[in-house]
Amino acid sequence: MKDRLKRIAAESAAELVQDGDVVGLGTGTTARHVLQVLRERVEKEGLRITGIPTSADTRILAVKLGLRLSTLEEHPELDIAIDGADQLTRRLELIKGGGGALLREKVVANCAKRFVVVADESKLVERLKMPVPVEVLPFAWKPVELALREMGALDVRLRTGSGKAGPVMTDNGNYILDASFGEIEKPERLEAELRDITGVLECGIFCPAIVGEVHLGTRHGPRVLGQGREVK
Ligand code: A5P
Repeated sequence: MKDRLKRIAAESAAELVQDGDVVGLGTGTTARHVLQVLRERVEKEGLRITGIPTSADTRILAVKLGLRLSTLEEHPELDIAIDGADQLTRRLELIKGGGGALLREKVVANCAKRFVVVADESKLVERLKMPVPVEVLPFAWKPVELALREMGALDVRLRTGSGKAGPVMTDNGNYILDASFGEIEKPERLEAELRDITGVLECGIFCPAIVGEVHLGTRHGPRVLGQGREVK
């Protein structure tokens, strides 16, 4: 069922892509649906797009699907970027980074004229509350952990995965700390505080200033949230 809702969100957002667009390609299971829908549009409509992938995982899928790719070096300005989220609110606050791609995702989102988020409706919450992924320089992970605890984190975990012993390494060669703060009352302030810690490269809080709209997949079809209001 969730997969169907992700596809609904992906179809709704992928409609926004126009011929000739440079498109930021997000990471995660919902973003994978977006790539699939874009490939279908390329085949059926002859849509010409250039994708900028936000992770190695997305790049591999895009190559498999035959999507044309480029880099931020060649295209530092994107027409649109479409990406998933782990948790989001009606006020367009997000937590991202469940797949460890938050740093490149935020760079790409910032380079896009329009940043569109896709998610199934289960991601919508009243207040952000899941642990916040924080990408850190491996050299500095311990002092950053201590700084996070000092600023009020209830728990901080160095992310580990499967298929390799030890910490998960991001596509940028860094570690991820998942820091729990309980319910986050002021995401913008927390984002600024986290980015201010020396050794932190980026955090998974995305604020309304860069989020243009959210396309939610629901049982009744797509639901679009814009700046503080329902759009569709
Ligand atoms: C990747 O690092 C994340 O930011 C993903 O965009 C996020 O985890 C959403 O993934 P799913 O669509 O798989 O839930």
